Amino acid sequence: MTKKIYLDYAATTPVDQRVIRAMLPYLNKKFGNTMSLHGFGQTAKSALEESREEVAGLIGAKPNEIIFTSSATESNNLALKGIAFANRNKGNHIVISAIEHPCIMESARWLEKQGFKITRLKVDKQGLINPADVREVIEKGTILVSIIHASNEIGTIQNISEIGKICREKGIYFHTDAVQSFGKIPIDVNKMNVDLLSASSHKMYGPKGAAILYVREGTKIEPILHGGGQESGIRSSTVNVAAIVGMAQACKIAKKEIKKEAVRLTKLRDKLIKGVLEKIPGSHLNGHPQKRLPNNANFWFENVEGESIIIQLDLSGIAASTGSACSSVKLEPSHILLAIGLKHEQAHGSLRLTLGRWTKTSEIDYLLKVLPGIIKRLREISGKA
Ligand SMILES: Cc1ncc(COP(=O)(O)O)c(C=O)c1O
Repeated sequence: MTKKIYLDYAATTPVDQRVIRAMLPYLNKKFGNTMSLHGFGQTAKSALEESREEVAGLIGAKPNEIIFTSSATESNNLALKGIAFANRNKGNHIVISAIEHPCIMESARWLEKQGFKITRLKVDKQGLINPADVREVIEKGTILVSIIHASNEIGTIQNISEIGKICREKGIYFHTDAVQSFGKIPIDVNKMNVDLLSASSHKMYGPKGAAILYVREGTKIEPILHGGGQESGIRSSTVNVAAIVGMAQACKIAKKEIKKEAVRLTKLRDKLIKGVLEKIPGSHLNGHPQKRLPNNANFWFENVEGESIIIQLDLSGIAASTGSACSSVKLEPSHILLAIGLKHEQAHGSLRLTLGRWTKTSEIDYLLKVLPGIIKRLREISGKA
């Protein structure tokens, strides 16, 4: 029997059947354009505004603070570029961390070319930023700090409320990329002192093509898409109502199930981590042992190539990843693993296993049965056993 075990939930998730059911009427029957004045348009507009309320409710925001976009890549671009250009008169300094997702790293690099000054904060061996370092690098011209909430790769969760408190004290906008934590652990934009927050539907059992940027009321932000003035003029474009209804339904489910599911996944994750470290010599955990996402386990193995592990796991019916989905096409090691102090060859031996709503104990047992043999065989083939 060929098994099909999906342990790559950080890359993307299947759409929950309950979400599909909620979306379907908006693909053909209630297909209107939210800007149209007729009944079709108004039906779509009502669904949009109800969805905004639902999404806002999951993170303690006001509905008018939710801007729908097409992806978190877009939300992160909008956060950085939108704040940079709207607040240029105040300064040109932006602070990010060394372990951001490529869409933040590359937006910052582009802004650097436009004359902005970027500081990239270091992290410790477990991937944590020291909030005191944020305070230290803030200067007179600092206009924005953007720090990822939970790492897409190593799962480490930052002390966002502490960093936010420092930014608030200094009167500086604070953005967090919460793509991996949204719907998985509780988020409250007020308790966390954030002014902007990005999240994506396809990482939490919703469809691709919908995401949000939370923008605190009163924040000065410049659009990057200009047009018909949808989404309070911050993000013009005909609104993808079906996908947004799907994201809202995914939020509704998350709100109900978040606590129980986090407990269930943490147990499974810890069983997985313990099993791998015990059964496989020369294996090491990446990221913080406790301050990590309930669904993330990330390792590096001595004397093995991550890509070879992925291929062998795939042949055994298990889908996993060696680094983030977006960077696995590149051959150089992940900047996140290098930032936590791994050497190139160590980073190349990394394996990310991310669990989700349909992960069963029997699947973790199966993984723990096949992985030690795979690592042993690969080391033997390369003469490094
Ligand atoms: C932390 C993080 N930020 C941003 C993104 C980009 O999200 P999207 O796929 O919605 O563009 C991802 C996706 O991998 C991510 O993990």
